Amino acid sequence: MKTKKTFYVTTPIYYPTAKPHLGTSYTTIAADVLARWNKLQGKDVFFLTGTDEHGQKLDEAAKEKGVKPKEYADELVKDFKKAWKELNINFDEFIRTTDKKHEEAVKKIIQKIYENGDLYEGNYEGLYCIPCESYYTEKDLVDEKCPTCGREVQPFKEKAYFFKLSRYQKGLLDLYKENPEFILPESKRNEIMNRVKEGLKDVNFTRSKFSWGVEFPMDKKYVLWVWADALTNYISALDWPSGKNFEKFWPANVHLIGKDILWFHAVIWPAMLMSAKIKTPDTIFAHGWWTVNGQKISKSKGNVIDPLEISNKYGTDSFRYFLLRAVPFGEDGDFDERALAARHNNELADKLGNLVSRVSTLAEKYGIEKAEQAKELDSKETTNKVSEHLESFQFDKALNEIFSFIDKCNTYVQETSPWITKDKKVLYRLANAIKDASILLSPFMPETCKKIAQTFNFKIDIKELDKPLKVSKIKKADILFKKIDTEVNNNQDKITNNKKENINKPSAPLGDSKEIVGIANMSTIKFDDFAKIDLRVGTIKKVEEIEGADKLYKLEIEVGKEKKIILAGIKQFYTKDELKGKQVAVIMNLEPRKMRGVESQGMILAAVSDNHSKVILLSPDKKIDSGSKVQ
Ligand code: MSP
Repeated sequence: MKTKKTFYVTTPIYYPTAKPHLGTSYTTIAADVLARWNKLQGKDVFFLTGTDEHGQKLDEAAKEKGVKPKEYADELVKDFKKAWKELNINFDEFIRTTDKKHEEAVKKIIQKIYENGDLYEGNYEGLYCIPCESYYTEKDLVDEKCPTCGREVQPFKEKAYFFKLSRYQKGLLDLYKENPEFILPESKRNEIMNRVKEGLKDVNFTRSKFSWGVEFPMDKKYVLWVWADALTNYISALDWPSGKNFEKFWPANVHLIGKDILWFHAVIWPAMLMSAKIKTPDTIFAHGWWTVNGQKISKSKGNVIDPLEISNKYGTDSFRYFLLRAVPFGEDGDFDERALAARHNNELADKLGNLVSRVSTLAEKYGIEKAEQAKELDSKETTNKVSEHLESFQFDKALNEIFSFIDKCNTYVQETSPWITKDKKVLYRLANAIKDASILLSPFMPETCKKIAQTFNFKIDIKELDKPLKVSKIKKADILFKKIDTEVNNNQDKITNNKKENINKPSAPLGDSKEIVGIANMSTIKFDDFAKIDLRVGTIKKVEEIEGADKLYKLEIEVGKEKKIILAGIKQFYTKDELKGKQVAVIMNLEPRKMRGVESQGMILAAVSDNHSKVILLSPDKKIDSGSKVQ
């Protein structure tokens, strides 16, 4: 990140065809953290988010509901604004591509691109994915479906205006070379560079089959392609070409986006800007995608996470914390509510919550007295590291630093036992350290840090980091995080919402710095629940390969009188001959699952090493009748 006095951060503008979900919340929370962090540094910040309201997808969704597209969008825009408010997103502007100022800016940039000789009329033939509003060729498709969203594509033919993207190959490659931070993370930069090196095709910039879009200024038969329209939001919101905000904030410090829309942002957008002679942004950061329990999130799978439901259950700050702590920004991650609950309980309630509760309770009782800060509670190094990590968009590392510091505070409490010594200086040092930790944490968890600041009477301001805490009367803090009982409910992995108070819980592991990765705090299950699993010994009768699958075997397993077809990912570990006749443990009553067009009717058990480099089937060590129970 370049050092400037201003900071301009953007999120993608979201299609108002679905309510805010985990993915859109993720980018928006990350942008909010960056905006708050930079504000804290005293920078002039502009944080932009909004909605992308043109295009065929929205047009069709509105038709289905029998309303005008704008009216349709109006309703969903309300949902977005409500969600962002509840998630404590402090944006400076919410741009809608149906805003007049946006539409005008779009026409202007298209005019400039045209005047530069970069738009020409031609014929287009291709395959179109309506949900992604994108064209593909046969070669691009995966299993004959859209390579981005996996849905059906439709053949499409039309006269169109093309943008001469091919002309910008060298310009783009130079841009990437001269600005190694233009595309982040680096792996994504390499991907894009390689694709651009292979050559660039001109892009169809107009549509004529529907009219819900910005009118194409050169030829009114057409509307502009929704992406060319949408990308322009990043400057229309600043009142380009002559707005003060444009002068002040452009080029953007960073466009935060998900990895699926990197091509549009890292190739098409800078080429449009180059053509219109506008500076390119400093950085485009593509974050990874969330899955839920290993599966792609989709309405049809019924695994869509409602961010507001989660934030109501655990608190907005816990949700914000989890999303940015659990997965390095830039990598894919799996959303497991149990992992969230574990972090909420073990890190937020037990570490931060308990620290604040203990220190404020004792400070209320015994008072605090000014003292030099203890060496181990000096926060300078933590501040520097947090700052470094946030400048390179490593939210997880920044949070790790802050929580190591909180661990140090907890260790200090243990070692100094202020509840016995009643030492006011020790309590002052701790309160001072809590001030520092909260200031650093405030962009991530604004509500919680505000409460802590009220308890210890300090301002959330970067300058306060260098100043010793003012001595004042301190009142015991209210509970910051209510613990959530994690209880596996039948086989649905539900987490019940029995909040319980954690204050002064004697067994709370103060100073315990164990990292929680993935599933922690596995709950016990009742014997009756375990007994529901029908586990039996089966004998493998037949082993077949599946076309195109390099890991799977199709097994025919005889279990007593029954025959089961089971697909198992063991091809790399066993030959067919090794498997034939082998006895294995089979889960009989697992819901069937279709893979590669074949229905798998159960599962066989195997021991799997940590990195999945070894997979060994669990077999009885002596022959036994097939169909025997495993218990
Ligand atoms: N309208 C375009 C963006 C135009 S920007 C000029 C768009 N909109 S969208 O509503 O589909 O928003 C998508 C954003 O949400 C993308 O950044 C996408 O990567 C992100 N996510 C959608 N599902 C996601 C996950 N499961 N995980 C993380 N982010 C994901 O694209």
